Amino acid sequence: MANVVVVGAQFGDEGKAKVTDLLAKNADIVVRYQGGNNAGHTVVVGEETYKFHLIPSGILYEGKTCVLGPGMVIDVKALLAEVAALKKRGLDDSRLKISSSAHVTMPYHLALDAAEEESRGASKIGTTKRGIGPTYADKCARSGIRMEDLLDKEVLKEKLEWIVPRKNVLLERMYNHPPFDPNAILQEYLGYAEEVRKYVCDTSDMIFTSIKNKKNILFEGAQGTLLDLDHGSYPYVTSSSPSAGGACTGTGLGPTTIDRVIGISKAYMTRVGEGPFPTEQEGAAGDMLRQTGKPWAEVGVTTGRPRRCGWFDTVIGRYSVRINGLDCLAITKLDVLDEFDEIQICVAYKDKVDGTIHKELPSIGAMFKRMEPVYKTFKGWKTPTYKITKFEDLPVEAKRYLDFIAEELDCPVAIVSVGPTRDKTIIIEDPIHGPKRILTHAVPQ
Ligand code: GDP
Ligand code: IMO
Ligand code: MG
Repeated sequence: MANVVVVGAQFGDEGKAKVTDLLAKNADIVVRYQGGNNAGHTVVVGEETYKFHLIPSGILYEGKTCVLGPGMVIDVKALLAEVAALKKRGLDDSRLKISSSAHVTMPYHLALDAAEEESRGASKIGTTKRGIGPTYADKCARSGIRMEDLLDKEVLKEKLEWIVPRKNVLLERMYNHPPFDPNAILQEYLGYAEEVRKYVCDTSDMIFTSIKNKKNILFEGAQGTLLDLDHGSYPYVTSSSPSAGGACTGTGLGPTTIDRVIGISKAYMTRVGEGPFPTEQEGAAGDMLRQTGKPWAEVGVTTGRPRRCGWFDTVIGRYSVRINGLDCLAITKLDVLDEFDEIQICVAYKDKVDGTIHKELPSIGAMFKRMEPVYKTFKGWKTPTYKITKFEDLPVEAKRYLDFIAEELDCPVAIVSVGPTRDKTIIIEDPIHGPKRILTHAVPQ
């Protein structure tokens, strides 16, 4: 295979786990490089549905090593519950490895996430309340607890004795929240430490050695490009780097080790939580896209919130191609569009104030509010696609729709997904060995 990054090209929930599971068949190691249990990744194999939050979606294949990389934040209590549930379903946890540098989400992070959200009132982010922002904030402030700290009783004690009183001042005075007892946390987390100890190692060294031994690495992104802390719709973002660059910093590997980047997009678009969403549909079209009642209905896997739904946005698509350096796209959930008479695609934004047309995403986040989508309407195909396995057999309207996306984004569509299971997949070109997308930049002779 090669070393491949799977990245969400929209606002998260694009179907990354389905594609990761497909590609994992030919990988040796699957690594999550950022985020925590804010992620909700669904893999459907036959009659079985798995919902992963921290564990990489490659775990379903025997013999694949699954890594929680240094760029992740890990709620160890949630991790142990996820592992226990998977073990009950017969999965072997000996293939799980956790970076000693990954940060640990502590109880005060959860309390702070909830309290900060509440205090923002109408300006809330709509977080998953999994303590993600406060854990990354502590990492940046150099007051975080890493997995290696968790495993060392003296270090953990010393850190908690310094950190917890400071968090308590904030929680009690700002948020009227009862204080945490550092000793109670210490005792509880020393127990978790003994349970996770066997998984913890230097995963960067392990992966680098594997690459030298010609093993194939699959990097599984969580969230999506528009939720990226630096490149997303700030401040309505998560606190990590879901875009492809995060695969290097979040794993401890250089950019030269990555061969391919595959962007995952739905054939339309969804968002959970607050923040701009120019193509959002609140009426009948939104309801149709939401697929309420279906197993793949647009409901958040982690929080159970209904997802906001809207039309495919090529402005955002082009932006994702650029930010991630995408080689190709996987377009998922094409089948959801099967019953529409007409389907819209946003081809540009029109500035409501001065009438300017933007084909590229405005660099100033606040400008989002001034943008209204300019749509091109496509005739629907009104034919079920879920049984189709070859691109040639798709209805002509569906082919036109996909070709239009590829042209507008200047990025080939390599995979089309028409249902949640592995077999409901159309491979147009090999996403790993197909032609590499060539960026037109000057190469000094
Ligand atoms: P992720 O977070 O990007 O891995 O995506 P989620 O698991 O949060 O959401 C994707 C949902 O769509 C899940 O319920 C998947 O089982 C489902 N899904 C993925 N691909 C397809 C598809 O092509 N068609 C349909 N109908 N469902 C799909
Ligand atoms: P997967 O990996 C969709 C959203 C939240 C909120 C914002 C910040 O399944 O695609 P956070 O809890 O991270 O501080 O919340 O990001 N969000 C997601 N939306 N899919 C996800 O993960 C998400 N993880 C976080 O709804 O708007
Ligand atoms: Mg999800």
